[in-house]
Parts: sequence; structure tokens; C-alpha cells
Amino acid sequence: MERPFPTVAVVGLGTMGAGIAVAVARSGRRVIGIEADGANAGRALARIEEATAHAVARARLTSEERAALLALITVGDQLDAAAEADLVIEEIPEQLELKRELFAELDRICPPQTVLATGTTSLSVTRIAAATGRPERVLGLHFFNPVHAMKLVEVVRTVLTDPQVAAQAADFARELGKEPVAAGDRAGFVVNGLLFAYLNQAAAMYESRYATREDIDAAMRLGCGLPMGPLALLDLIGIDTARTVLEAMYQQSRDRLHAPAPILGQLVAAGLLGRKTGRGFYGYEAPGSSKVVPTAEAVAAPRPAGRPVHSVGVCGSGTMAIGIAEVLAKAGLQVTLLARTQEKADRAHAQLARSLDRSVEKGRLTDGQRTAALALVTPSAQVTALAEADLVLEAVTEDLAVKRELFAVLDKVCKPGAVLATTTSSLPVISCASATSRPQDVIGMHFFNPAPAMKLVEVVSTVLTAPDVTATVLELCAAVRKHPVECGDRAGFIVNALLFPYLNDAVRMLEEHYATVDDIDTAMKLGCGYPMGPFELLDVVGLDVSLTIERVLHQEFREPGLAAAPLLEHLVAAGCLGRKTGRGFRDHARR
Ligand SMILES: NC(=O)c1ccc[n+]([C@@H]2O[C@H](COP(=O)([O-])OP(=O)(O)OC[C@H]3O[C@@H](n4cnc5c(N)ncnc54)[C@H](O)[C@@H]3O)[C@@H](O)[C@H]2O)c1
Repeated sequence: MERPFPTVAVVGLGTMGAGIAVAVARSGRRVIGIEADGANAGRALARIEEATAHAVARARLTSEERAALLALITVGDQLDAAAEADLVIEEIPEQLELKRELFAELDRICPPQTVLATGTTSLSVTRIAAATGRPERVLGLHFFNPVHAMKLVEVVRTVLTDPQVAAQAADFARELGKEPVAAGDRAGFVVNGLLFAYLNQAAAMYESRYATREDIDAAMRLGCGLPMGPLALLDLIGIDTARTVLEAMYQQSRDRLHAPAPILGQLVAAGLLGRKTGRGFYGYEAPGSSKVVPTAEAVAAPRPAGRPVHSVGVCGSGTMAIGIAEVLAKAGLQVTLLARTQEKADRAHAQLARSLDRSVEKGRLTDGQRTAALALVTPSAQVTALAEADLVLEAVTEDLAVKRELFAVLDKVCKPGAVLATTTSSLPVISCASATSRPQDVIGMHFFNPAPAMKLVEVVSTVLTAPDVTATVLELCAAVRKHPVECGDRAGFIVNALLFPYLNDAVRMLEEHYATVDDIDTAMKLGCGYPMGPFELLDVVGLDVSLTIERVLHQEFREPGLAAAPLLEHLVAAGCLGRKTGRGFRDHARR
């Protein structure tokens, strides 16, 4: 088959256009670069020369390759030059009227077979196509910034785009070394459609002072393995751009979760647009700098000292209890591992020993450290063994009645001043606290699975938690080398409240046949650098667990957009719970 589009015109050689021009020339194609006027054309060419020189310096390109690709690029300011192209890619500023005028012009200039592609992020491709007499040959090609590094291209078809044209465009993207995913014409397409709703919720969470910007960002990086926290990412994208994308999404969906959080409007009005202006959610050393500098609000209020913690009780004999006991013992704390029967306690202890053995095998622990850690853990079935513990952490079944019963017992047994913590991920901490006569001593410590590997702990203070109890837990986290983030006692804390609505949105996208499981997973991994796509993650977490969390979130906030996607409910009802049952969004049994 002939190579698709041997000659490509790129109109608008700014951030995206210049990057695309280089990528296209690298594939051996002729590139006709077109800018608005002569001065801009000169600057654009200089930018391309500079970027490619930088690539040579970084050994991403040889100087011969650079010379060859520069020879393929011409830059001018006459739109008529586009007449020679087989494909025109538009990368001018994000304004509908500007783009529609350009497409009408291109339609007059270019022969009927020429394919016209828009680089829009949030405008309607259909409306841009409607400005031409060839909507079947118009589509969206959404590259990501920086073009040389980002492998993803969303190939956006309108209802009128000829499927063959879309297929050719996807082949073209592959020839540039990119990974195309198919998307329909909807604000945000796949990646931004899922990403921006989440960023918006993070902005709203910050605005409501539920947690600090640092804690929200750390929670998402450490709890989900994301390359950047949401507020730092908003600063990088530009608050104004984010607001425009969200506004476009809201206009289409009328989903309140897409309505830009008021703080975004305030930041834009104040000219705090993120890194590019030197200040957004964070302050930066200078406009364009990535170096964060402290701003007034970053200065923390003084905190009381915590209570001393030498011995800790851990209640439970499951994955979390054993993992947490391991973390504590490795940090040199005396641990009582309390289970319902001695047999269960001994079994949990043996499991902990095996986990330590594996660490020794992997060279993460010495034999001596293993023996010392194990000697610090005492398995027991007698709750009175917790009488002298400075802090007791429960990690029993996620059932409020069971937890409350345990807290009532701990209240009777534990010494005055002992801190009582729950690891619950979805129940109100205050409901555990109210089962005791000392709610001021009760707090949430939400560890992540596997506890020995995951650095994050969400520290959840209720309206009654004493400040020195919060301080105790923060100090304990530091002592056991975990990263604590602080938040209030509401459903989902930070991580789940931001993660699960995003996962639910992905399920809805699938349910609406907007994109496939594979395309959505690929798009989020390549477009956002996520370690796993949403469906991979749902299958690992378990669809039943996910559904429970989504129901809790919906119940708490009553936001219509948070209602669990029916497809998730159907899969759970059908027993497709993910990897653990061999089938979820993917069939794992056959792999
Ligand atoms: N920057 C990103 O991260 C990003 C990512 C994906 C897609 N996009 C989209 O790509 C498009 C371009 O964005 P950008 O960030 O490269 O913008 P930019 O402002 O860096 O570049 C736009 C360029 O277009 C030129 N221009 C303006 N009017 C023109 C005309 N009539 N004819 C020819 N050139 C003209 C300008 O001189 C400028 O050089 C937008 O639709 C944007 O939404 C941007």
C-alpha cells in the first residue's frame, strides 16, 4: 500500500505545530509549514531549528538526520502553499471562529481529495468540518505536548468522516511512531474527557480546604502511582486552558462535575495561570519555571507534640493487618498482633515471617534485620494483651458493626491516652469513635495495599479528634517511613474520592460505545503516563470493591454524576469481579 499523505502542510507552527512538523519530517515526508505572517514564520523556523539542535544535543537525533529533516521542511506565510499537500494539519489557537474561517479557506485552496485535520483539544470537530464542503474528509488529529515525547494521537471521527480517511490517518500516525486511538467527536475526546473531570474535582477539593495542595498531590502520586499530582498538573497545563476545556465539556454534558470549579475562574481572573505566569495553585521561581517556591499559605500552623509511641497493637489477621504489623516491626516498634483465635494469630505471624523472608531473598533486608523484626511481633488472641499499647490500629473486616464492637472492647481494655486508629477505607471514622467513651483519641490511618510497599497513609481526623492525636499519628508515619497526608472524615478521603469517579467515567465512556476498553486504557497510559489504564485497574481492584466505593461516594455527595455506571453493576451481578474471578472488563482466564 502507498504511504499515506506523502506531503503534509502544518498550519500554525506554535508549540504543537512546530513539534508536529518535525515529527512528520522525521518520517521522511515533505512538510509545508505555514504561519500567520512573515515575522511569525521566521520565528517558527528558528524554533524548529532550535528544537532539533536540542534533540541532537540530547542524542535523540544525529546531525545528519537533523539536516535531512530540516531539508524536508519549508516555512512560509502563504496559505496557498497548502494546495500541494495531501493532508493539512491545523494547529492555530483554540478559537472556533478562527478555525472555521481557516477551514473554509483551506477548502477553497486545496484539491477535493486533500484531507483536512484539526488539532483542536476541546472544540467541536463537526462544527469545524461544517465550514467546508468536504466534511467526509475532515477529522481531528489530537497530538500531545511535547510531541516528540508523547506517543499518543487521538484520531477523532465525526459522524460524517469517511472511515477510510480515519484509517489512513491512523496509519499515518503509526508511521510517525505514534499510537493512534479512535475517538468520536465529544469535548475532551478520551484522555481529556477523563482527565479534566478528575482535575476539576481535585481543584474543588482544594477549594473546600478539605486537604492542602501538597497533600492532594502527594496522595495521588503515592496512592495511585501517577506521575504528577492534579494541582501541579493544572499549573503545568495552564489554569486558563483547563477552564476552557472544562467549560466545553460542561456545555456538552451538563454534568455538574464538569462545571469548572469556581477557584479556576478566580485564578484566571487574577492572572494566576500556572507555571507560565509563575503562579497558579503553587508559586514558581519565575514565569515558565518548574521550581516551586513557598507562598504564604504553605507556612504550616504550629502543631502540638504527639504522644510517645513504643508499643502498638494491630487487630486483624488479614492482608492489611499483617502488612501493617510488618511495617511497624521493621521500624523497631513492639507489635502485638491480635486475632480472634490463637490459631489465626499464629498463622498471621507465620505469614509475616514469610513476607520478611521474601524481603531477605530480594536483598531488601538482612537476615539480622528479619530476625529482629520478627522478634518484635507477638501474636495473641487475648485482647487484654493490648492493655499497655500506646496505639492500637484495627484492620478487621470492613463492616461497621464489627468495627464498632471492637472499638467498644478497646475502649474498655486500653490504657487512658492510648491512640485508637482505624484503617477503614470507606466507613466513617466518627462512627468508630462514637462506639468509645474517648472519641478524641480515635483517628483514621488509611494504609494502601500492599502496606510494606505503598508509601502513602491518609490520616483522617474527625471533628472530635484531639490535635495531639493527629500529631501522634503523623509522627508515627514519619517513624515508619510512610508519607502521611491529612484529610477530613468524609467518604473516599482524598485518593478514592478522586480516583473512583474517574474510573466510573471510564466505564460510562465504554457503556456509551464511545471508545473501546483497549483504546481507553492505551489513551490514559500514553496520554497521561498512568501506570495502568482504568479497566486494568478496575480488574485488579475488583469490580465489587469498586462498586461499593462508588456507592459510598454517591451516597455521601448525592452528585448525580457519581452514580455507579449500570455496566459496572451488571458485571458485578454477573459475577465478573475482575482478575479474582478470571473475568471483569477483560477475560483473564483465556490469557
Ligand atoms: N499546547 C498543548 O499542550 C496542546 C496539546 C494538544 C492540542 N493543542 C491544540 O493545538 C492547537 C495549537 O495549540 P498550540 O499550543 O500549539 O498554540 P500556540 O499558540 O503555541 O501556536 C499557535 C500558532 O498558530 C499561529 N497562527 C495563528 N493564526 C494563524 C493562521 N491564521 N494561520 C497560520 N498560523 C496561525 C500563531 O502565530 C502561533 O504560532 C490548539 O487548537 C490547541 O488547543 C494544544
